[in-house]
This record gives sequence, C-alpha cells and structure tokens, in this order.
Amino acid sequence: DQRKDADGNAKDKQLERFRINNDGKKMNTNQGIKVSNDEDSLKAGVRGPTIMEDFHFREKMTHFDHERIPERVVHARGFAAHGEFELYESMKEFTRANFLQDTSKKTPVFVRFSTVVGSLGSMDTARDVRGFATKFYTEEGNYDLVGNNIPVFFIQDAIKFPDLIHAVKPEPHNEMPQAASAHDTFWDFVANNQEIAHMIMWHMSDRTIPRSFRMMEGFGVHTFRFVNDKGRSRFVKFHWKPVLGVHSLVWDEAQIIGGKDADFQRRDLWESIEIGDYPEYELGVQMINKEDEFKFDFDILDATKLWPEELVPVKKIGKMTLNRNVDNVFAETEQVAFHPGNVVPGIDFTNDPLLQGRLFSYIDTQLIRLGGPNFAEIPINRPICPIHNNQRNGFSRQTINLGKVSYHKNSLAGNTPSTSTEKEGGFVHYEEKVEGRITRARSKSFDDHFSQARLFWNSMSPPEKQHIIDAFSFEVGKVKSKSVRQQVVDMFVHVDKVMATTVAENIGVNRPTGEQSKVIASSPALSQANTIKLPQT
Ligand code: HEM
Repeated sequence: DQRKDADGNAKDKQLERFRINNDGKKMNTNQGIKVSNDEDSLKAGVRGPTIMEDFHFREKMTHFDHERIPERVVHARGFAAHGEFELYESMKEFTRANFLQDTSKKTPVFVRFSTVVGSLGSMDTARDVRGFATKFYTEEGNYDLVGNNIPVFFIQDAIKFPDLIHAVKPEPHNEMPQAASAHDTFWDFVANNQEIAHMIMWHMSDRTIPRSFRMMEGFGVHTFRFVNDKGRSRFVKFHWKPVLGVHSLVWDEAQIIGGKDADFQRRDLWESIEIGDYPEYELGVQMINKEDEFKFDFDILDATKLWPEELVPVKKIGKMTLNRNVDNVFAETEQVAFHPGNVVPGIDFTNDPLLQGRLFSYIDTQLIRLGGPNFAEIPINRPICPIHNNQRNGFSRQTINLGKVSYHKNSLAGNTPSTSTEKEGGFVHYEEKVEGRITRARSKSFDDHFSQARLFWNSMSPPEKQHIIDAFSFEVGKVKSKSVRQQVVDMFVHVDKVMATTVAENIGVNRPTGEQSKVIASSPALSQANTIKLPQT
C-alpha cells in the first residue's frame, strides 16, 4: 500500500503529526465543546427567529464563509502527489548539494502538475503548457525545481510576465475564452513580442496536449548553476524524463475527453498511484563549463533557447517515483508553495533576467494567497530539518519560540549563522564577478528569435507538422481581428514559408510575403542537418 511504500520517509512522518481522522468520533466545536445538534439553529420558539448566541451556528457559518482562498494567479488548476527521489551516481564532482551526494539516500518529494491559464475548475485536456513543480525535502532544507513541460519560455525578461498573462487569460470585458489561447489578445501579444516564436512552435505542437502527467517531460527552463565543494561552478539545465516516454493526445481526442471527463489527467495520476503503478521520471542534467559560456550562437541566459542535446548531452543522474496520493487536496496540493528561489547549498542562480524576476514574484504572491508570512509553517511546506532564526509573529504563527532573544548578534542565546568555513557551513552565494553600467538595454545576444523555432519545425515528423498547421489554423482562425491574423502569419513565415502560407489560406488572410529566416546554428553538424534532437512523442 502507498503508506507502506512511503514508510520511513521523513516528510511522511512529519505530516503524520497533523493528520486527524474524524471517523467514529463525537463532534465538537473548534473550542472543544461537544455539539448536541448540528441540524437546527437555536431559535426563540420553533418558528424562530434565530438567536445570535448560538455559538455553534456562528462558528460553523463563519468558517464556511472563509473557506476559499485565492486561486494561484497562474497555474491555478493542478494536481499533486508524494514520492521519493533516488540518485544513480554521486554528483560530488559537480555540486555540493547534499541530496546529490549519496546513492543510498532517498529524498522525499512532492510534485504538483498544472495547466497555466485555466481557472481552478477548468478542463485538464486544454491546449496549454503544463507546470511540473517538484519540492525536494532535503536534509539541508527545501529545494524547489519549479519547471514546465516545455524547455523554453514565452518571454526573456520577467518584467513582461504580467503582460503575457494579461494577454493569454480570458479577455477582461467578457471573461472569454476560458483556458484557451484562441483569442485576439493572445495572438496580438504574440505578433508584437516576437521573442515568443520558439515557444509558440512548441505550444502549437502536440506537447501542449499531453496524454498523461505520467508521460510528460519536465524542464527547469532557466540556466542554473551547480557549485561543488571547491567553489567551482558549472552552468546547468534540469530535465525530467518520464520512464513511460513522451505521449500526447491528438486535438479531437483532447476535446472529446475534456468534454466527457474534465478531470481526465488528475484521475489518471490518482488511479495509477492507487493501483501501485507508480509514475517514474529520471532526472537529467545538461552542464556547461564556466569557460564555455560564450561558445554558443545563442545566449545561455536566454530562456527562449534550449541547449541542443547534440551539443550538450543530458546526463541522467537519478529517478523520482510518485508513490502516494495526497490525503487532502486543499491541505497539500492547494497550500503548497513552490518557489524557484528555494535552493540548497550547491545549487545557485544565474543572471537570466526571467529567473531573476521569478525570484521576487513567487513569495510575493504567496504572501497574499496563503495569508501572511507564516506559510512556511503549513505542514506541506515545512522543511524536514528544524528551523531556527529570529523571525517572529505575524498572522497565524504556530511556532512557540522559547526564550527572550529574537535578535542577532547576541550574547544571551548564542544562536549564530554557520560560518562558511564550518564543515556544515551556511549557504554562500556564488561569488560571480559582475560589472556594467546600469541600463534597461537588452543584450544583442538575445535577438535571434527564429533559428531554434525553425530547427524545431524542421525536426517534426510529417504528422506532427500537420498537427501544428491544424493548431495554428484553429487557434488563430478564432481571432476576430483580421489585422492580428495577418500579423501572425507574417511573423511565422520566418519559421517556415509553407507552414505560414498554408495557415494563411486556412484562416482567410493574404499569403505572407516575407522569407524564412536563416538558421544561425551553433555547430556545423546542426546547420547541415537543420534539425535538432528532440525527445520522441
Ligand atoms: C506558478 C510567476 C515563469 C513555472 C507561478 C505563480 C506565479 C508565477 C506568481 C503562482 C505561484 C503561487 O501562487 O504559488 C511567474 C513569473 C514568471 C514565471 C513572474 C516569469 C517571469 C515561469 C517559468 C516556469 C514557471 C519560466 C517554468 C520553468 C511555474 C509553475 C507554477 C508557477 C510550475 C505552479 C507551481 C505550483 O504548482 O504551485 N508562477 N512564473 N513559471 N510557475 Fe511561474
């Protein structure tokens, strides 16, 4: 059974302290007073009126009135499970991250899969990017790998994220369409923010209608940093590879299934775990040495670019198994707070301007979504190591901090940070040298928007290409503004002329007159083949 499979897991033991089973128990109020009647409110006479002193009624109703919390501003609809991560080989040479050293150690994880655009009650099989967020409960604190099932992103700089989301969410005047990108504002954003080209090719492909969460890749997207115990750093990209392989639905299947069972993907995950057919994913890393940062024809800090696997192979370093369903969706799935800024010693950030902005956004939104600064105390968010610091108070504080000292430096309690020279030293940010003038100017190395979009198209099989043309025709075909429809085909002619021309004919606009862009490829091998190695679907 699932509980047995998770046995010995430090996170499961921690959660056990918070579980309450009401079965067969006598009902009482939140103050512990036994309840004598839960069906009739207290009244003056059998026909009323209701009396205010009915504390049981007031407490029950007040609690109900406050049951809802805001849904996530993006990735509102999601489903999660518990599991474990095992390492294949020690990564000591590359990172000092404690959970990546010892192959005999199992690290508890919690994973939430999601769609991006739809609201909490939207359908699972909508065409959308899927979130793939993993919380590793390591002995050195929580490490969150907050990824997506697509290796690149829509924009290059976080300051554009509110614009992207305003464009893709339902239009504000009539709140339509729900959970779909087939509308004017989204495609207007696309045509006027052309760094999105590569992502849109993935978006229009079958990758955005996955067959199952169990058959989906995950990508950290950004370039992160590994730092080993000698302080040497390497750039790293993270991948999850599903052991079952990557599989998608076709569009009509996705629509029919979504209509008949809006919960198709959460049900699939839940049931697989219930019957013991546990989903598995291998963790892969691509690494680039510090000296090779500028060896490529794309900027490795640009989140609209992937690192072709021909140039930088993916090394599989471990496996994650999801082996336990949640006990309570609200308590766990809804209250979990992932944050790309939750890193452990040995993993660090880079100057990717998209990543840098994310580091601000998650904690900021969670402060309101989860009601104040104590959300790290919610059971699902608690690290498995004890917490000692001088943070105090705030709404719904649960920890009872002993003593009178809540400041640093002090001589009364002696609670100090660990120095970096101690064996188990504290987190030390990687000492990257930075210099430059303060500016909003963008690096020219971020300017090539079409090479990888073209490589992606070239790498598709004929049926996949047809699916992409069909998806463009359906999605852009729903755009009311003819000017926007025209702008979109005029943009995508830079990816492929036949593709854009066919779409133009399908959606009733003029054939685009522009030309395909030349691929700027990072190696002679790539430019000759004109394709890119992609995981099979
Ligand atoms: C959720 C912001 C880019 C993956 C969220 C949330 C915010 C947000 C505010 C809601 C968090 C919550 O309520 O707990 C941003 C910003 C981005 C950005 C500002 C860019 C500047 C990305 C990228 C990825 C990503 C590039 C993938 C690599 C996710 C995932 C979730 C999420 C998976 C859902 C986490 C969960 O399941 O709770 N994002 N995001 N986001 N984001 Fe982002």
